Parts: sequence; C-alpha cells; structure tokens
Amino acid sequence: MLDVECSRRPSRLEFHDLSPELGDFRRELVTGLSAARKSIPCRFLYDARGSALFDRICKLPEYYPTRTELGILRQIAPEVAERVGPGAQMIELGGVNSLKARILLDALDEPAAYIPIDISRDHLRASAEAIYAEKAGLSVLAVCADYTQPFELPEAPGGGRRLGFFPGSTIGNLQPDEAIGFLATWVKKLGPGAAMIVGVDLRKDPAILEPAYDDAQGVTADFSRNLLVRANRELGSDFDIDAFAHRSRYDVPSGRIVINLESLKAQTVTIPSDDGSIEIRFAQGERIHTEDSYKYSLEGFKTLASAAGFRPTAHWTDENQLFSVHYLETAEG
Ligand code: AVI
Repeated sequence: MLDVECSRRPSRLEFHDLSPELGDFRRELVTGLSAARKSIPCRFLYDARGSALFDRICKLPEYYPTRTELGILRQIAPEVAERVGPGAQMIELGGVNSLKARILLDALDEPAAYIPIDISRDHLRASAEAIYAEKAGLSVLAVCADYTQPFELPEAPGGGRRLGFFPGSTIGNLQPDEAIGFLATWVKKLGPGAAMIVGVDLRKDPAILEPAYDDAQGVTADFSRNLLVRANRELGSDFDIDAFAHRSRYDVPSGRIVINLESLKAQTVTIPSDDGSIEIRFAQGERIHTEDSYKYSLEGFKTLASAAGFRPTAHWTDENQLFSVHYLETAEG
C-alpha cells in the first residue's frame, strides 16, 4: 500500500474562476424579440432547469447522439490512447458531464492533467472534485469560463501531448463560419503537436433526425419553452408558456435541425425594465428562432476542420453511421 502511495505522481486540484458573463439576458431578449425575424440566443437555454432538461434529453430513446457517441468512445479509447501517448494534458470544452472524459482518461497512459472548462460553476466544481478523488496522479485544473470567449489556459503539469476534447456535437450549434473561427482559436490555444477530438453528428434520414428533436414525451419542447419560463422568472415578463409551441424540422439543403417557438395566437408580451416596460407583439403563427443544430457529412466536417487549420487524421463512426468522432491534429512544432 505504502509502495503504491509512493509511486504516485504528485497531483493537484485547482479551480480557476474567470467569472464568465453570459451577457445580459434582458438586453439580448429585447433585441432578439424586437427584430423583424425574432430570435433568442441558444446559450440562454442552459439555466439549472434547462441543464436538467437537457440531461433528460440525452437519455431519451429518440435522442441517439449521446449513447451512440459513448459507444464509439468506448470502442476507440485504446486507439486514441496509442495516438496520444503518455502524460497527456486533456482539455475538455464543457466539462460538467464527465462521463465521456472518463472513458478517455481511463484509457490514456498516465494522463498528467485534466482541464475541464465550463460556465456552470457549481456543477463544474462538483465534477472536478469527484474526478480528482477517483484518479490518483491526475491533476485536475477546472476553469470556470465561457470557452467561446478568449481566456488563458492554466499552467498544467506533464510533458505529454495537449488533447482538446469537444464531444456531444455541440460544434453543430454554431453556424459553420462560426465553427471554423472557433476551431481556429483552438488550433492556436492548443499549440503545435497537439490533437483535438470532436464529436460530430452526421447527416441522415429525417425520419431519424426529426424525432430526436421532437420526442414523444415532450422533453425537448419543455427544454425550448424553458427560455420563456426563464424570462418570466428572471425578468418578470408575462409569456403565456402554453401559447407557444415547440417546432423543429430538418432543413435538408443546409443540413440542420431548425428549432423555433411558434406563437399559437395573436398576443402581446410585456418585459418590465427600469426605464418603462417593453411590449412585444406576436402575430398568430409568428416564430421565435431558438436553435440550429448542424449535421455534417464526414467529408464536410473534415473540410471545415481543415479550413480552421487542423489536420484531420482519423475518424470513427458507429455501424449505422449515425454519429462520428474526429481526431484532428495541429502542425508539429
Ligand atoms: C447541446 N446540443 C449538441 C444539442 C443538439 O443536439 O444540438 C442541443 C439540443 N437541442 C435540442 N435537443 C438537443
């Protein structure tokens, strides 16, 4: 027992709180709902209730991405470990649900550091502490930040490869030009000789895609409408939640699921503010755009990653070609 203790590398647990700002919900809501084509930015979907609803979505029978990606990761973990080599520093973009990270950390050869980055402070702290307690020798340096905004990565121990990890096809919630810009910032941040693993949902039959975003139990509808629930709770607005319906459809030419909330009647919503209330009018059938979820072909995503400056060197899919996991490399130093 003593020998085992002594052979462990010293490790550390750190929590870097960079006090991320989500942006002013009231201002963004008023701006988005005052435009000719109404919209609300999808990052506001994830308050505590929204995050809990998203966790439920991930377990729905119709929502194949989570379980399919988990299956791929379990299968490829040894090969990933071989490619990455010993002493890696793994940086996860969005690290509160560490189930996927654990699969890779378990397979990697003595990973030196795990750096989860997430905006959700309490969840991040809890999950970082749990992983640290479990994995002897692994330093866990959690960073509470908005990973889409500029920030500094902490100094991490270990002389191995830097490995970015961006699972879940969250890349698909960015517009393709934004996705290129986002990946390009990570080419720089990771530096030469690094790698990045990205989970990417694939284009497929709308008969599979559409139910994944409009499930029979109505969890996804509640998730979308939570934007209005949140506005009522946090801003004192008076959205009649039942008078808005979740509408999602797959747009074949652009390869994306488009999600809207549709006003079921002509109505006026009031959003109180310090300098007088703002009234937003809705025609019957008028829509608020809330989210896009882009799907890619294997080649389409590789082209996008190359445009960002990565070299796509491997990819894996499940046997039904529903989901893909890409291994991207930066140039050697
Ligand atoms: C977080 N993101 C990858 C999900 C998706 O599939 O685009 C968000 C989601 N929206 C509705 N269902 C799931």
